[in-house]
Amino acid sequence: MDFNDPFTLHTANARDISTLMPFLGDDAEPLDCTITSPPYWNLKDYDLPDQIGFGQSYDEYLAAMGEVFRELYDHTKSTGSLWMVVDTLRVNAEFPSQAARQLPLPFELSSLAAKSGWTLREVVVWKKDRTLPWSNGRRFRNLFEYVLFLVKTNDHKFKVDRLRDYEFGEWWLRWPERYNPNGRQPSNVWEIPIPVQGSWRTPTIPHVCPLPEELVKRMVLLSTDPGDVVFDPFAGTGVVLSVANALGRRSAGLDIEPAYARAFKGRSTASEIEESGNETRASAVRRMLIQLRALKYPKVMFQRLVRLSSHPAPQSILVHVGRIDAKTLRDGRSAPVRVSITFAYSDADGIDLGAITESLRAFSAQPPLSKFGVEASVEARPLESVGDQLLKRRLHVYESGRTWVTRKTVCGLDQIRRLESLVTRRNNYSYPPIVSNVKLRIVDTAASPEQSVVP
Ligand SMILES: C[S@@+](CC[C@H](N)C(=O)[O-])C[C@H]1O[C@@H](n2cnc3c(N)ncnc32)[C@H](O)[C@@H]1O
Repeated sequence: MDFNDPFTLHTANARDISTLMPFLGDDAEPLDCTITSPPYWNLKDYDLPDQIGFGQSYDEYLAAMGEVFRELYDHTKSTGSLWMVVDTLRVNAEFPSQAARQLPLPFELSSLAAKSGWTLREVVVWKKDRTLPWSNGRRFRNLFEYVLFLVKTNDHKFKVDRLRDYEFGEWWLRWPERYNPNGRQPSNVWEIPIPVQGSWRTPTIPHVCPLPEELVKRMVLLSTDPGDVVFDPFAGTGVVLSVANALGRRSAGLDIEPAYARAFKGRSTASEIEESGNETRASAVRRMLIQLRALKYPKVMFQRLVRLSSHPAPQSILVHVGRIDAKTLRDGRSAPVRVSITFAYSDADGIDLGAITESLRAFSAQPPLSKFGVEASVEARPLESVGDQLLKRRLHVYESGRTWVTRKTVCGLDQIRRLESLVTRRNNYSYPPIVSNVKLRIVDTAASPEQSVVP
């Protein structure tokens, strides 16, 4: 074994992990993460003397795997983790009256790993699009495999924000305050097609069960940072190493079959892989959700005013949405957006605007408005006295409480006053027009944020 170039795929026995480790780092625990799919017991004959799995008794197999788990544990940092992709196994009957049975290998292996100190933290179902061709009338088609996530401590890396998605369902427009601007928490069912043989790996040395790049990418992103050491003791043709390298991690692996290491060294790294989805899209969706919340805020305030108080309704509501800070758009850690709201009364004679302002501020401090992520300054005023910056600009008008689509603009007090005819009755409320510096024109209410074009 030549470990002068340690960060590559070596032809070696997984039982010899400890020989490689000093070459991967100065401390005793150089590994940040191991991602692997172990050989199964007695399933595939790789036709090599030291292979684990084939030709062994079940006890011998477990003993060999136990040794590997112990080595991995001893050489993994306290923040580190072990991902294992493994399926259950159909075991034939030993005598005729016995039924063939499923061996719960994922859970047997995780119990075994627990004996070395590993803690099973998550179980993910990898849902595939198809299975290997076979026919057997008395079994289901097997369309999923288990992905086990094991850790050493509670401080393990788990960067869940990197995998959030924006599939919101059709209610996001009406309930933007219920959606995290960061996107949806990833689930424990991962739908990823199995790779087409020979797509990126050397076509002459195909592996019988290579992992899909997307599957490995998720594990790498969740539990490592750039520069971290990713390891695979049963590396096959090196998909784990290849994906880890493409994401700026350092990687090393072992496989007992020499052809795989030769093939791996003979080709360059896998295609460039984008670190985290599409950042531009993510920040566009964040902006939209924040704006939707900001525009819904005065609408909810208005509903509470008419429902909970005897104060008269305003003729229009003016809403100035402040700048959404760049950091919020970039990482979704939302600083509240500042919004100034004016409930405008055309004829304020005999109306106690001070009392209305007080009520509006009280609504602001209570749920649901206190949970909108909006920092609002609110006031009830005569329309005539609204003479601030807002009126110099062209403003967008939202009618009938539809705070996601504007079809009209106005400029100046006179035009706003003329909007009074737009007070519309809808869902038991006579909604005054909402006038704002923000322009949202989402016409298809069933569309996802990504499909919605805001010109
Ligand atoms: C399920 S496959 C891994 C496939 C790999 N994840 C990929 O994407 O290509 C298991 C691998 O373990 C290897 N193997 C079997 N016994 C081994 C041993 N004692 N040491 C190292 N590798 C071994 C086999 O050669 C095989 O490539």
